[in-house]
Amino acid sequence: MSPHTSEITAAKALAQSAGLNDAIQTIIAELVEAQSTLVGARPAADDLKQSYEDALARYGELRGRPALYPYIGSGLGNGPLVELADGSVKWDMINGIGVHMFGHGDPDIIETALRAALSDTVMHGNLQFNAEVIDFADLIVTEASRASDLKYCFLTNSGTMANESALKVCTQKANGAPRVLAFADNFMGRSTTMSQIGDSAANRIGVPLNVQVDYMPFYDPEDGENSTEYTLRQLQQFIQRYPNQHSCFVMELVQGEGGFNIAPRDFFVPLMEACKENGIAVWIDEIQTFGRTNEMFHFAQLDLGRFVDVVTLGKMSQVCACVYTEEYNPKAGLLSGTFVGSAVGLQVGRRSLERLRDGGYYGANGKIATLHTAFRDHAEVLVASHPEWFPPVPHASGTARVASRFYGGVGGMMRITPFGGDKTTILNALRIMFDEGVIAFYCGHDPYHLRFLPPVGVMEPQQFDDVFKIVESSFAKAESSANS
Ligand SMILES: Cc1ncc(COP(=O)(O)O)c(C=O)c1O
Repeated sequence: MSPHTSEITAAKALAQSAGLNDAIQTIIAELVEAQSTLVGARPAADDLKQSYEDALARYGELRGRPALYPYIGSGLGNGPLVELADGSVKWDMINGIGVHMFGHGDPDIIETALRAALSDTVMHGNLQFNAEVIDFADLIVTEASRASDLKYCFLTNSGTMANESALKVCTQKANGAPRVLAFADNFMGRSTTMSQIGDSAANRIGVPLNVQVDYMPFYDPEDGENSTEYTLRQLQQFIQRYPNQHSCFVMELVQGEGGFNIAPRDFFVPLMEACKENGIAVWIDEIQTFGRTNEMFHFAQLDLGRFVDVVTLGKMSQVCACVYTEEYNPKAGLLSGTFVGSAVGLQVGRRSLERLRDGGYYGANGKIATLHTAFRDHAEVLVASHPEWFPPVPHASGTARVASRFYGGVGGMMRITPFGGDKTTILNALRIMFDEGVIAFYCGHDPYHLRFLPPVGVMEPQQFDDVFKIVESSFAKAESSANS
Protein backbone atom coordinates (compact mmCIF):
# COMPACT_ATOMS: atom_id res chain seq x y z
CA MET A 1 0.00 0.00 0.00
CA SER A 2 1.38 3.44 -0.85
CA PRO A 3 1.64 5.93 2.07
CA HIS A 4 -1.26 8.33 2.61
CA THR A 5 -1.23 11.62 4.52
CA SER A 6 -4.15 13.93 5.13
CA GLU A 7 -5.26 16.18 7.98
CA ILE A 8 -8.89 15.21 7.61
CA THR A 9 -10.75 12.16 6.37
CA ALA A 10 -12.50 12.15 3.00
CA ALA A 11 -15.78 11.93 4.95
CA LYS A 12 -15.02 15.15 6.81
CA ALA A 13 -14.02 16.85 3.57
CA LEU A 14 -17.42 15.90 2.14
CA ALA A 15 -19.21 17.21 5.26
CA GLN A 16 -17.41 20.55 4.89
CA SER A 17 -17.83 20.93 1.14
CA ALA A 18 -19.47 24.15 0.02
CA GLY A 19 -21.59 22.31 -2.56
CA LEU A 20 -23.02 19.98 0.06
CA ASN A 21 -23.72 22.79 2.52
CA ASP A 22 -25.47 24.89 -0.13
CA ALA A 23 -27.58 21.91 -1.13
CA ILE A 24 -28.62 21.28 2.49
CA GLN A 25 -29.54 24.95 2.99
CA THR A 26 -31.64 24.81 -0.21
CA ILE A 27 -33.50 21.77 1.10
CA ILE A 28 -34.11 23.40 4.50
CA ALA A 29 -35.42 26.59 2.84
CA GLU A 30 -37.89 24.49 0.79
CA LEU A 31 -38.96 22.69 3.96
CA VAL A 32 -39.58 25.89 5.89
CA GLU A 33 -41.60 27.28 2.99
CA ALA A 34 -43.78 24.15 2.90
CA GLN A 35 -44.24 24.28 6.69
CA SER A 36 -45.48 27.86 6.60
CA THR A 37 -48.91 26.55 5.53
CA LEU A 38 -49.28 24.61 8.80
CA VAL A 39 -50.29 27.22 11.36
CA GLY A 40 -53.16 25.68 13.31
CA ALA A 41 -55.55 22.74 13.46
CA ARG A 42 -57.61 22.19 10.31
CA PRO A 43 -60.01 19.45 9.16
CA ALA A 44 -59.33 16.77 6.56
CA ALA A 45 -59.62 17.63 2.88
CA ASP A 46 -62.80 16.08 1.43
CA ASP A 47 -61.04 14.50 -1.53
CA LEU A 48 -58.37 12.85 0.64
CA LYS A 49 -60.75 11.22 3.10
CA GLN A 50 -61.48 8.07 1.12
CA SER A 51 -57.85 7.18 0.36
CA TYR A 52 -57.07 7.77 4.05
CA GLU A 53 -59.83 5.43 5.18
CA ASP A 54 -58.69 2.84 2.63
CA ALA A 55 -55.08 3.01 3.83
CA LEU A 56 -56.16 2.59 7.46
CA ALA A 57 -58.38 -0.34 6.52
CA ARG A 58 -55.48 -1.94 4.61
CA TYR A 59 -53.23 -1.53 7.62
CA GLY A 60 -55.86 -3.21 9.77
CA GLU A 61 -55.94 -6.15 7.32
CA LEU A 62 -52.14 -6.39 7.37
CA ARG A 63 -51.87 -6.33 11.16
CA GLY A 64 -54.90 -8.49 11.82
CA ARG A 65 -56.50 -5.74 13.89
CA PRO A 66 -57.26 -2.05 13.34
CA ALA A 67 -54.66 0.55 14.33
CA LEU A 68 -55.34 1.87 17.83
CA TYR A 69 -55.43 5.42 16.47
CA PRO A 70 -56.61 6.55 13.01
CA TYR A 71 -53.24 8.24 12.46
CA ILE A 72 -51.23 8.26 9.23
CA GLY A 73 -48.79 11.18 9.01
CA SER A 74 -48.27 12.93 5.68
CA GLY A 75 -44.56 13.42 6.39
CA LEU A 76 -44.78 17.17 7.02
CA GLY A 77 -45.23 19.03 10.26
CA ASN A 78 -44.43 22.30 11.95
CA GLY A 79 -43.32 21.99 15.57
CA PRO A 80 -46.24 20.74 17.66
CA LEU A 81 -48.45 20.68 14.54
CA VAL A 82 -48.57 17.66 12.27
CA GLU A 83 -50.24 17.16 8.91
CA LEU A 84 -51.95 13.81 8.40
CA ALA A 85 -52.32 12.00 5.08
CA ASP A 86 -55.95 13.20 4.86
CA GLY A 87 -54.70 16.81 4.79
CA SER A 88 -55.88 17.57 8.34
CA VAL A 89 -53.53 19.36 10.73
CA LYS A 90 -53.51 18.51 14.44
CA TRP A 91 -51.76 19.55 17.63
CA ASP A 92 -49.59 16.60 18.53
CA MET A 93 -49.57 16.27 22.31
CA ILE A 94 -48.29 12.67 22.38
CA ASN A 95 -45.44 12.60 19.79
CA GLY A 96 -45.02 8.89 19.25
CA ILE A 97 -45.44 8.44 23.04
CA GLY A 98 -42.74 10.92 23.92
CA VAL A 99 -40.26 10.40 21.10
CA HIS A 100 -40.39 13.56 18.95
CA MET A 101 -39.35 16.14 21.51
CA PHE A 102 -38.60 18.78 18.89
CA GLY A 103 -41.96 18.09 17.29
CA HIS A 104 -42.44 17.61 13.58
CA GLY A 105 -39.96 18.79 10.97
CA ASP A 106 -37.74 20.94 13.17
CA PRO A 107 -35.27 22.43 10.64
CA ASP A 108 -32.20 21.86 12.82
CA ILE A 109 -33.21 18.23 13.45
CA ILE A 110 -33.86 17.70 9.72
CA GLU A 111 -30.47 19.18 8.90
CA THR A 112 -28.85 16.80 11.42
CA ALA A 113 -30.74 13.90 9.86
CA LEU A 114 -29.74 14.92 6.32
CA ARG A 115 -26.09 14.97 7.27
CA ALA A 116 -26.41 11.62 9.08
CA ALA A 117 -28.11 10.13 6.02
CA LEU A 118 -24.87 10.68 4.08
CA SER A 119 -23.13 8.07 6.26
CA ASP A 120 -21.86 5.06 4.35
CA THR A 121 -24.25 2.75 6.21
CA VAL A 122 -27.72 3.13 7.61
CA MET A 123 -27.23 1.05 10.75
CA HIS A 124 -24.37 0.88 13.22
CA GLY A 125 -23.68 -2.28 15.16
CA ASN A 126 -21.70 -3.58 18.08
CA LEU A 127 -19.04 -5.02 15.75
CA GLN A 128 -18.69 -2.14 13.28
CA PHE A 129 -19.65 1.41 14.07
CA ASN A 130 -18.89 5.00 13.17
CA ALA A 131 -17.84 7.77 15.54
CA GLU A 132 -21.45 8.79 16.27
CA VAL A 133 -21.85 5.68 18.43
CA ILE A 134 -18.99 6.84 20.65
CA ASP A 135 -20.27 10.43 20.70
CA PHE A 136 -23.74 9.30 21.71
CA ALA A 137 -22.45 6.99 24.47
CA ASP A 138 -20.15 9.76 25.69
CA LEU A 139 -23.03 12.18 26.06
CA ILE A 140 -25.18 9.66 27.96
CA VAL A 141 -22.40 8.64 30.36
CA THR A 142 -21.19 12.22 30.88
CA GLU A 143 -24.68 13.44 31.77
CA ALA A 144 -25.55 10.36 33.88
CA SER A 145 -22.32 10.53 35.87
CA ARG A 146 -22.75 14.19 36.87
CA ALA A 147 -24.90 13.20 39.83
CA SER A 148 -24.18 9.49 40.30
CA ASP A 149 -21.54 6.75 40.04
CA LEU A 150 -22.94 5.56 36.70
CA LYS A 151 -19.99 4.91 34.46
CA TYR A 152 -20.76 2.67 31.46
CA CYS A 153 -23.54 2.29 28.94
CA PHE A 154 -24.81 -0.35 26.58
CA LEU A 155 -26.78 1.06 23.65
CA THR A 156 -29.71 -0.76 22.15
CA ASN A 157 -32.66 -0.16 19.90
CA SER A 158 -35.70 -0.38 22.16
CA GLY A 159 -36.61 0.44 25.72
CA THR A 160 -37.59 -3.17 26.24
CA MET A 161 -34.13 -4.37 25.19
CA ALA A 162 -32.53 -1.78 27.48
CA ASN A 163 -34.61 -3.26 30.30
CA GLU A 164 -33.73 -6.82 29.33
CA SER A 165 -30.07 -5.78 29.49
CA ALA A 166 -30.56 -4.16 32.88
CA LEU A 167 -32.21 -7.24 34.34
CA LYS A 168 -29.32 -9.40 33.16
CA VAL A 169 -26.80 -6.96 34.61
CA CYS A 170 -28.61 -7.11 37.97
CA THR A 171 -29.08 -10.89 38.05
CA GLN A 172 -25.48 -11.59 37.04
CA LYS A 173 -24.25 -9.42 39.91
CA ALA A 174 -26.65 -11.18 42.29
CA ASN A 175 -25.52 -14.68 41.18
CA GLY A 176 -28.81 -15.38 39.45
CA ALA A 177 -31.13 -14.33 42.31
CA PRO A 178 -34.55 -15.08 40.79
CA ARG A 179 -36.91 -12.48 42.26
CA VAL A 180 -37.60 -8.91 41.17
CA LEU A 181 -39.14 -6.09 43.20
CA ALA A 182 -41.30 -3.63 41.29
CA PHE A 183 -44.04 -1.07 41.89
CA ALA A 184 -47.67 -1.94 41.29
CA ASP A 185 -48.94 -0.45 37.99
CA ASN A 186 -45.46 -0.33 36.45
CA PHE A 187 -44.71 -0.81 32.75
CA MET A 188 -41.49 -2.18 31.30
CA GLY A 189 -42.12 -3.19 27.70
CA ARG A 190 -43.49 -6.32 26.07
CA SER A 191 -40.81 -9.01 25.82
CA THR A 192 -41.86 -12.22 27.57
CA THR A 193 -39.93 -11.19 30.67
CA MET A 194 -40.90 -7.50 30.72
CA SER A 195 -44.57 -8.41 30.15
CA GLN A 196 -44.34 -10.41 33.34
CA ILE A 197 -42.67 -7.72 35.43
CA GLY A 198 -45.02 -5.03 34.09
CA ASP A 199 -48.20 -4.90 36.14
CA SER A 200 -50.86 -5.19 33.47
CA ALA A 201 -52.85 -8.40 33.21
CA ALA A 202 -53.69 -7.94 29.51
CA ASN A 203 -49.99 -7.76 28.60
CA ARG A 204 -49.24 -11.23 29.92
CA ILE A 205 -52.23 -13.26 28.76
CA GLY A 206 -50.81 -16.49 27.32
CA VAL A 207 -47.28 -15.78 28.55
CA PRO A 208 -46.04 -18.62 30.79
CA LEU A 209 -45.16 -17.03 34.13
CA ASN A 210 -41.57 -17.83 35.00
CA VAL A 211 -40.44 -14.54 36.57
CA GLN A 212 -41.07 -14.04 40.28
CA VAL A 213 -42.16 -10.47 40.91
CA ASP A 214 -43.05 -8.89 44.25
CA TYR A 215 -45.10 -5.70 43.82
CA MET A 216 -44.79 -2.77 46.18
CA PRO A 217 -47.48 -0.05 46.38
CA PHE A 218 -46.47 3.25 44.75
CA TYR A 219 -46.74 6.53 46.66
CA ASP A 220 -50.22 7.73 47.49
CA PRO A 221 -50.19 11.54 47.88
CA GLU A 222 -53.31 11.51 50.00
CA ASP A 223 -51.72 9.14 52.51
CA GLY A 224 -48.43 11.05 52.58
CA GLU A 225 -45.94 9.68 55.11
CA ASN A 226 -48.20 6.73 55.93
CA SER A 227 -47.88 5.67 52.33
CA THR A 228 -44.09 5.74 52.58
CA GLU A 229 -44.11 3.71 55.80
CA TYR A 230 -46.56 1.21 54.36
CA THR A 231 -44.46 0.56 51.26
CA LEU A 232 -41.28 0.29 53.33
CA ARG A 233 -42.95 -2.27 55.62
CA GLN A 234 -44.01 -4.30 52.60
CA LEU A 235 -40.48 -4.19 51.23
CA GLN A 236 -39.00 -5.32 54.54
CA GLN A 237 -41.46 -8.20 54.73
CA PHE A 238 -40.55 -9.40 51.25
CA ILE A 239 -36.84 -9.14 51.96
CA GLN A 240 -37.33 -11.21 55.13
CA ARG A 241 -39.54 -13.71 53.36
CA TYR A 242 -37.07 -14.28 50.52
CA PRO A 243 -33.58 -13.48 51.85
CA ASN A 244 -30.94 -13.04 49.09
CA GLN A 245 -33.51 -13.90 46.44
CA HIS A 246 -34.02 -10.42 44.94
CA SER A 247 -31.64 -9.20 42.24
CA CYS A 248 -33.13 -5.70 41.96
CA PHE A 249 -35.89 -3.23 42.71
CA VAL A 250 -36.91 -1.64 39.41
CA MET A 251 -38.49 1.78 39.87
CA GLU A 252 -40.14 4.30 37.60
CA LEU A 253 -39.72 7.52 39.60
CA VAL A 254 -42.71 8.91 37.72
CA GLN A 255 -45.02 6.13 36.63
CA GLY A 256 -45.68 6.49 32.91
CA GLU A 257 -48.23 3.99 31.62
CA GLY A 258 -49.32 3.60 35.27
CA GLY A 259 -50.89 7.08 35.30
CA PHE A 260 -48.21 9.81 35.54
CA ASN A 261 -48.02 9.22 39.27
CA ILE A 262 -45.33 11.20 41.04
CA ALA A 263 -43.68 10.77 44.44
CA PRO A 264 -41.39 12.93 46.57
CA ARG A 265 -37.74 12.12 47.25
CA ASP A 266 -38.60 11.07 50.81
CA PHE A 267 -40.69 8.21 49.50
CA PHE A 268 -37.80 6.66 47.58
CA VAL A 269 -34.93 7.21 50.01
CA PRO A 270 -35.89 4.62 52.67
CA LEU A 271 -36.72 2.07 49.97
CA MET A 272 -33.37 2.61 48.28
CA GLU A 273 -31.54 2.46 51.60
CA ALA A 274 -33.20 -0.87 52.38
CA CYS A 275 -32.11 -2.17 48.95
CA LYS A 276 -28.54 -1.04 49.58
CA GLU A 277 -28.44 -2.71 53.00
CA ASN A 278 -29.56 -5.98 51.43
CA GLY A 279 -27.43 -6.04 48.27
CA ILE A 280 -30.45 -5.43 46.00
CA ALA A 281 -29.70 -3.34 42.91
CA VAL A 282 -31.52 0.00 42.60
CA TRP A 283 -32.54 0.09 38.95
CA ILE A 284 -34.33 3.20 37.71
CA ASP A 285 -36.38 2.81 34.54
CA GLU A 286 -36.24 6.31 33.03
CA ILE A 287 -37.43 5.23 29.59
CA GLN A 288 -40.46 7.51 29.76
CA THR A 289 -39.08 10.21 32.10
CA PHE A 290 -35.69 10.64 30.44
CA GLY A 291 -35.00 14.14 29.18
CA ARG A 292 -38.43 15.59 29.85
CA THR A 293 -38.59 16.54 33.53
CA ASN A 294 -36.67 19.39 35.17
CA GLU A 295 -33.33 17.60 34.77
CA MET A 296 -32.19 15.28 32.01
CA PHE A 297 -32.40 12.39 34.49
CA HIS A 298 -35.29 12.44 36.92
CA PHE A 299 -33.12 10.73 39.56
CA ALA A 300 -30.97 13.88 39.44
CA GLN A 301 -34.03 16.12 39.91
CA LEU A 302 -34.86 14.09 43.04
CA ASP A 303 -31.21 14.01 44.16
CA LEU A 304 -31.16 10.22 44.29
CA GLY A 305 -27.96 9.70 42.30
CA ARG A 306 -25.95 8.22 45.14
CA PHE A 307 -28.34 5.26 45.39
CA VAL A 308 -28.53 4.40 41.70
CA ASP A 309 -26.88 1.23 40.33
CA VAL A 310 -28.53 0.82 36.93
CA VAL A 311 -30.60 3.19 34.76
CA THR A 312 -32.45 2.51 31.53
CA LEU A 313 -33.52 5.26 29.13
CA GLY A 314 -35.07 5.64 25.70
CA LYS A 315 -37.80 7.31 23.67
CA MET A 316 -36.67 10.93 23.08
CA SER A 317 -33.04 9.80 22.86
CA GLN A 318 -34.01 7.88 19.68
CA VAL A 319 -31.50 5.20 20.71
CA CYS A 320 -31.99 3.43 24.05
CA ALA A 321 -29.44 2.69 26.73
CA CYS A 322 -28.73 0.67 29.84
CA VAL A 323 -26.31 2.60 32.07
CA TYR A 324 -24.54 1.12 35.11
CA THR A 325 -21.82 1.62 37.70
CA GLU A 326 -18.40 -0.04 37.84
CA GLU A 327 -19.78 -2.58 40.31
CA TYR A 328 -22.45 -3.68 37.85
CA ASN A 329 -20.26 -3.84 34.73
CA PRO A 330 -21.13 -7.34 33.47
CA LYS A 331 -18.79 -10.03 32.20
CA ALA A 332 -18.09 -10.20 28.45
CA GLY A 333 -20.78 -12.03 26.52
CA LEU A 334 -23.78 -10.91 28.54
CA LEU A 335 -24.72 -7.90 26.38
CA SER A 336 -24.48 -7.48 22.63
CA GLY A 337 -26.57 -7.55 19.47
CA THR A 338 -26.38 -6.78 15.76
CA PHE A 339 -27.72 -3.23 15.98
CA VAL A 340 -26.79 -0.26 18.12
CA GLY A 341 -28.98 2.12 16.15
CA SER A 342 -29.31 4.02 12.89
CA ALA A 343 -26.93 6.80 11.91
CA VAL A 344 -29.88 9.21 11.82
CA GLY A 345 -31.19 8.03 15.21
CA LEU A 346 -27.81 8.39 16.88
CA GLN A 347 -27.07 11.84 15.48
CA VAL A 348 -30.57 13.20 15.99
CA GLY A 349 -30.67 11.75 19.51
CA ARG A 350 -27.42 13.41 20.45
CA ARG A 351 -28.36 16.71 18.85
CA SER A 352 -31.73 16.75 20.66
CA LEU A 353 -30.13 16.05 24.03
CA GLU A 354 -27.43 18.68 23.49
CA ARG A 355 -30.06 21.28 22.61
CA LEU A 356 -32.10 20.41 25.69
CA ARG A 357 -28.99 20.49 27.90
CA ASP A 358 -27.64 23.79 26.55
CA GLY A 359 -30.83 25.63 25.66
CA GLY A 360 -32.21 26.68 29.05
CA TYR A 361 -34.70 23.80 29.26
CA TYR A 362 -33.73 22.34 32.64
CA GLY A 363 -33.88 23.69 36.19
CA ALA A 364 -36.74 24.90 38.35
CA ASN A 365 -37.24 27.92 36.05
CA GLY A 366 -36.26 26.25 32.80
CA LYS A 367 -38.41 26.05 29.66
CA ILE A 368 -39.77 22.60 30.57
CA ALA A 369 -40.91 23.72 34.04
CA THR A 370 -42.46 26.84 32.48
CA LEU A 371 -44.35 24.73 29.96
CA HIS A 372 -45.61 22.52 32.78
CA THR A 373 -46.86 25.55 34.71
CA ALA A 374 -48.74 26.74 31.61
CA PHE A 375 -50.34 23.29 31.32
CA ARG A 376 -51.42 23.34 34.98
CA ASP A 377 -52.79 26.90 34.66
CA HIS A 378 -54.94 25.84 31.72
CA ALA A 379 -56.02 22.61 33.45
CA GLU A 380 -57.00 24.55 36.56
CA VAL A 381 -59.18 26.94 34.56
CA LEU A 382 -60.83 23.99 32.82
CA VAL A 383 -61.58 22.26 36.13
CA ALA A 384 -62.91 25.48 37.68
CA SER A 385 -65.10 26.32 34.65
CA HIS A 386 -66.56 22.84 34.30
CA PRO A 387 -66.78 21.13 37.70
CA GLU A 388 -69.43 18.84 36.18
CA TRP A 389 -66.69 17.13 34.12
CA PHE A 390 -64.56 16.51 37.19
CA PRO A 391 -66.40 14.31 39.69
CA PRO A 392 -64.31 12.67 42.43
CA VAL A 393 -61.92 10.06 41.07
CA PRO A 394 -62.22 6.56 42.53
CA HIS A 395 -59.05 5.06 43.98
CA ALA A 396 -57.90 1.44 44.39
CA SER A 397 -58.30 1.85 48.17
CA GLY A 398 -62.05 2.32 47.63
CA THR A 399 -62.03 6.01 48.59
CA ALA A 400 -62.81 8.88 46.23
CA ARG A 401 -60.04 11.41 45.60
CA VAL A 402 -60.47 15.13 45.16
CA ALA A 403 -58.81 18.15 43.57
CA SER A 404 -55.17 17.06 43.52
CA ARG A 405 -56.09 14.20 41.27
CA PHE A 406 -57.78 16.19 38.47
CA TYR A 407 -54.48 17.14 36.83
CA GLY A 408 -50.84 16.51 37.53
CA GLY A 409 -47.53 15.09 36.36
CA VAL A 410 -44.15 16.76 36.19
CA GLY A 411 -42.22 18.56 33.43
CA GLY A 412 -43.23 17.31 30.00
CA MET A 413 -45.39 14.54 31.52
CA MET A 414 -48.87 16.02 31.96
CA ARG A 415 -52.21 14.47 32.81
CA ILE A 416 -55.84 15.48 33.26
CA THR A 417 -58.40 13.19 34.89
CA PRO A 418 -61.94 14.11 33.81
CA PHE A 419 -65.12 12.02 34.02
CA GLY A 420 -64.06 10.29 37.24
CA GLY A 421 -61.31 8.47 35.33
CA ASP A 422 -63.93 6.39 33.48
CA LYS A 423 -62.24 4.51 30.64
CA THR A 424 -65.09 4.55 28.13
CA THR A 425 -65.74 8.29 28.44
CA ILE A 426 -62.03 9.13 28.35
CA LEU A 427 -61.46 7.03 25.22
CA ASN A 428 -64.45 8.72 23.60
CA ALA A 429 -63.10 12.16 24.58
CA LEU A 430 -59.74 11.24 23.03
CA ARG A 431 -61.44 10.16 19.81
CA ILE A 432 -63.39 13.44 19.66
CA MET A 433 -60.25 15.46 20.43
CA PHE A 434 -58.48 13.67 17.60
CA ASP A 435 -61.27 14.57 15.17
CA GLU A 436 -61.24 18.17 16.40
CA GLY A 437 -57.46 18.53 16.13
CA VAL A 438 -55.62 17.44 19.30
CA ILE A 439 -53.79 14.13 19.53
CA ALA A 440 -53.32 12.88 23.09
CA PHE A 441 -53.47 9.44 24.72
CA TYR A 442 -54.48 7.78 27.95
CA CYS A 443 -52.58 6.23 30.85
CA GLY A 444 -53.41 4.56 34.17
CA HIS A 445 -55.77 1.74 34.99
CA ASP A 446 -58.93 2.59 36.90
CA PRO A 447 -58.71 5.51 37.13
CA TYR A 448 -57.72 6.32 33.55
CA HIS A 449 -56.23 9.69 32.68
CA LEU A 450 -55.66 11.79 29.59
CA ARG A 451 -51.94 11.87 28.92
CA PHE A 452 -49.97 14.64 27.21
CA LEU A 453 -46.32 14.29 26.17
CA PRO A 454 -45.95 17.58 24.25
CA PRO A 455 -42.79 18.37 22.29
CA VAL A 456 -40.94 20.18 25.08
CA GLY A 457 -38.19 21.32 22.72
CA VAL A 458 -40.45 23.50 20.57
CA MET A 459 -43.82 24.01 22.21
CA GLU A 460 -44.53 27.54 23.44
CA PRO A 461 -46.62 27.92 26.62
CA GLN A 462 -49.19 30.12 24.84
CA GLN A 463 -49.88 27.32 22.34
CA PHE A 464 -51.85 25.61 25.12
CA ASP A 465 -54.54 28.28 24.50
CA ASP A 466 -55.44 26.65 21.17
CA VAL A 467 -55.01 23.14 22.51
CA PHE A 468 -57.27 23.70 25.52
CA LYS A 469 -60.00 25.33 23.40
CA ILE A 470 -60.21 22.05 21.51
CA VAL A 471 -59.99 20.00 24.71
CA GLU A 472 -62.89 22.01 26.19
CA SER A 473 -65.18 21.65 23.19
CA SER A 474 -64.31 17.94 22.91
CA PHE A 475 -65.08 17.28 26.59
CA ALA A 476 -68.46 18.97 26.12
CA LYS A 477 -69.25 16.59 23.26
CA ALA A 478 -67.91 13.57 25.19
CA GLU A 479 -70.09 14.42 28.16
CA SER A 480 -73.21 14.92 26.10
CA SER A 481 -72.70 11.62 24.29
CA ALA A 482 -72.08 9.84 27.65
CA ASN A 483 -75.42 11.23 28.90
CA SER A 484 -77.42 10.46 25.76
C1 LIG B 1 -41.20 3.09 31.69
C2 LIG B 1 -41.09 2.32 30.40
N1 LIG B 1 -40.27 1.27 30.33
C3 LIG B 1 -40.12 0.55 29.20
C4 LIG B 1 -40.81 0.88 28.05
C5 LIG B 1 -40.65 0.04 26.80
O1 LIG B 1 -39.98 0.77 25.81
P1 LIG B 1 -40.12 0.37 24.27
O2 LIG B 1 -41.55 0.52 23.91
O3 LIG B 1 -39.20 1.33 23.56
O4 LIG B 1 -39.64 -1.04 24.13
C6 LIG B 1 -41.68 1.97 28.08
C7 LIG B 1 -42.46 2.34 26.89
O5 LIG B 1 -43.49 2.98 26.95
C8 LIG B 1 -41.82 2.71 29.28
O6 LIG B 1 -42.65 3.76 29.36
